[in-house]
Amino acid sequence: MDLTAKVLRALLAADRPVSGQELAEAAGVSRTAVWKAVARLRKENAPIAAEKGRGYWLEGDPPLTADLVSARLTTQRLGRPVHYFEQTDSTNLRAKELAATGAADGTLVLADSQTSGRGRLDRAWASPPGANLLLSIILRPNLALGSFFRLTMAAAVALARAVEELTDLAPLIKWPNDLYLDEAKLAGILTEISGQAEGLDWAVVGVGVNVNAAPELKTGDYRAASLADLTGRRVDRLELLNLFLLRLEEMVEAGLPPQELRQHWLARSMTIGRRVTVADRGRNVTGLAQDIDGDGALILETDDGLVRVVSGDVGPG
Ligand code: BTN
Repeated sequence: MDLTAKVLRALLAADRPVSGQELAEAAGVSRTAVWKAVARLRKENAPIAAEKGRGYWLEGDPPLTADLVSARLTTQRLGRPVHYFEQTDSTNLRAKELAATGAADGTLVLADSQTSGRGRLDRAWASPPGANLLLSIILRPNLALGSFFRLTMAAAVALARAVEELTDLAPLIKWPNDLYLDEAKLAGILTEISGQAEGLDWAVVGVGVNVNAAPELKTGDYRAASLADLTGRRVDRLELLNLFLLRLEEMVEAGLPPQELRQHWLARSMTIGRRVTVADRGRNVTGLAQDIDGDGALILETDDGLVRVVSGDVGPG
């Protein structure tokens, strides 16, 4: 861990100002080195305050820069390394470029704002700057192409678990991959893949979470809510990010076991048991949402028997 990360981690952990001397001793460096590290962090807009005789402290939500994020993550592989953009078109586009040029499994792309954030079915993903999580993670698991949806399931479950651990909220998963609370959308996931018949080469799992601000939506497709709206307090983006990556890492390390994923997913489903219509590019299938299989396909009981649906938008049946 470099010195800026060490200094930041110490400041994040402290509930009082920390003197330059204490920071220097903890890191085994000189006070001048600490002072230079603080200057570098401030250049990245970390809101570090200082007062002679008292020391340094953090005065607010730090941005999601690579140093700040690396200092906070406790994962082994996911989020190592981090690429941060104050603004970019889409973190999925950046991550796909990186993946295509050999970026490592676990590489994380983060942005504080996107100019053309993308959702499923070519929709836009809107998010006010600096308030939410906009991320894409590159994964290279040993999976058959047809099983890639397990990654989306793992991400949805990991995010729901992270929210459960950090707040007293219990988000539900709307098939295929949206997180909802009180019938309002909290998060969406867009997974994009590349591979050959032999299997997956890489996957980019893009996740947008309304943490501290819900976007103004132009279409009336759904209602959006943020964690801050629902808890009545600001939520620490970095803590949520770390928990999410930890839970996702556990499932990826375990080999994305389909039945375990399915159980976690079903326990939080808002789709199963409802009569729904799945619309997929002009084709509608209506039936009772009965189950999902280990690869995440929705099993509908229709008038013509059981139908396995792999993509589309769920609405009332
Ligand atoms: C959906 O609900 O349709 C999926 C939304 C996914 C949005 C995230 S935000 C970060 C990443 N970059 C993008 O352009 N899209 C995903």
